[in-house]
Amino acid sequence: MQKIILTGDRPTGKLHVGHYAGSLKERVELQNSGEYDKVFIMIADAQALTDNAEHPEKVRENVLEVALDYLACGIDPKKSTIFIQSAVPQLTELTAYYMNLVTVSRVQRNPTVKTEIKMRNFEASIPVGFFVYPISQAADITAFRATAVPVGEDQLPMLEQCKEIVNKFNAVYGETLTEPEIILPSNKACLRLPGLDGKAKMSKSLGNCIYLSDEPDVIKQKIMSMYTDPDHIRVQDPGKVEGNPVFVYLDAFSRPEHFAEFLPEYENLDALKAHYQRGGLGDVKVKKFLNNVMQAELAPIRERRHMWEQRLDDVKQILKQGSATAREAAAATLHDVRAAMQINYFENWHI
Ligand code: TRP
Repeated sequence: MQKIILTGDRPTGKLHVGHYAGSLKERVELQNSGEYDKVFIMIADAQALTDNAEHPEKVRENVLEVALDYLACGIDPKKSTIFIQSAVPQLTELTAYYMNLVTVSRVQRNPTVKTEIKMRNFEASIPVGFFVYPISQAADITAFRATAVPVGEDQLPMLEQCKEIVNKFNAVYGETLTEPEIILPSNKACLRLPGLDGKAKMSKSLGNCIYLSDEPDVIKQKIMSMYTDPDHIRVQDPGKVEGNPVFVYLDAFSRPEHFAEFLPEYENLDALKAHYQRGGLGDVKVKKFLNNVMQAELAPIRERRHMWEQRLDDVKQILKQGSATAREAAAATLHDVRAAMQINYFENWHI
């Protein structure tokens, strides 16, 4: 069996370091590992429209931004197919058939859908398209016969639901669809990067993000005003590292080389943490170090982004070609699905 990756993001804003740590970094490594026969990366504009029906411009304007962020992170159009979801109408047809295999109460139990309904104040008026998006996500994954889906932890319930649909379809119509597995980042600190303000999640609507496209002075200013341990008031006070966003970011991004280069008086992160916990280490010093780490991580990404920003026509071509490749792959699966369901009448009637 071929090893195939399918993953994607909703284009509702530029991508930030939460996306990067939570999945983008992993995707680039998987792409470059040479272990996968195909890699599909999807800009999920149709899914983004399910909760932005009244603001289609917000979605439209961010399609190219997300493409730029992908290319900036090192998604390589020679190795990966980057495409736009709405340019693959086969996904919608698959969704329609899968909808018959899922109950309303099953979707209602999906924890991610539950949280999102609350967050968007949809309780009294859930758009139908939004409600069924877990089913369309199963179509996205299965259309490309994906075996692996690298995403953030919040997408676990979507993968569970997808597997159920695959099993149900195969049980009813015979072995047709491939069951995918989720790939989470191996570094636990990357699973859910907190916001700059210490809130559980980095999110555009909370205004607590560092964007991949932020300029160096903006990154520095954001880091220097980050929330830390509120009880660490004077330098000599003992400080807490658990749940302290500055240390969570260091867990996610710092490497031994960073210490050698920027903070040689500490051997590694454990030594820095021990000093902070003992007392005698000020937040400013730790933040300055984090700033150096983040600048080192983000500089090549920002430079590549600037390079692609000068070549927008090439980016558009990449998306156009990628979408054509994606359509072909999805059409082949749809053909198999129709055959399994025996609704391919005109092929069978031999007329
Ligand atoms: N739900 C994902 C997000 O919110 C985007 C997405 C749509 C996706 N379809 C997918 C991710 C299929 C992985 C696989 O970012």
